[in-house]
Amino acid sequence: MSDEIFVSVPAAATLSTDEIIAVTLPDGTCVAMYNVDGHLYATDDRCSHGNASLADGDLDGFRIICPFHEGAFDVRDGSPAGYPCTMPIRAYPVVERNGQIGLLMPNGNAA
Ligand code: FES
Repeated sequence: MSDEIFVSVPAAATLSTDEIIAVTLPDGTCVAMYNVDGHLYATDDRCSHGNASLADGDLDGFRIICPFHEGAFDVRDGSPAGYPCTMPIRAYPVVERNGQIGLLMPNGNAA
């Protein structure tokens, strides 16, 4: 059994540069997807510092700036990139399979 499963996200195909969307996956996981210079990235939507949706934040290059306290994360790997965020969030590989854009999620995805 594979360690990852492909989850199609059709809305990602229409993302414009510097645009962010929040997507709720079939298992209930909420992710934010970002288009940075034509490349797609995905992380958990929920900030690790508080109950904020990162999809409501602002992109600054590879940094997503949280709308609540202006902490930040690197969208490439979910690492903290600005105080007060010190705990990483999950980042998910964005891939194309059979002409569909989607995410690779851990099999049996845990929150
Ligand atoms: Fe995101 Fe505080 S809730 S920085």
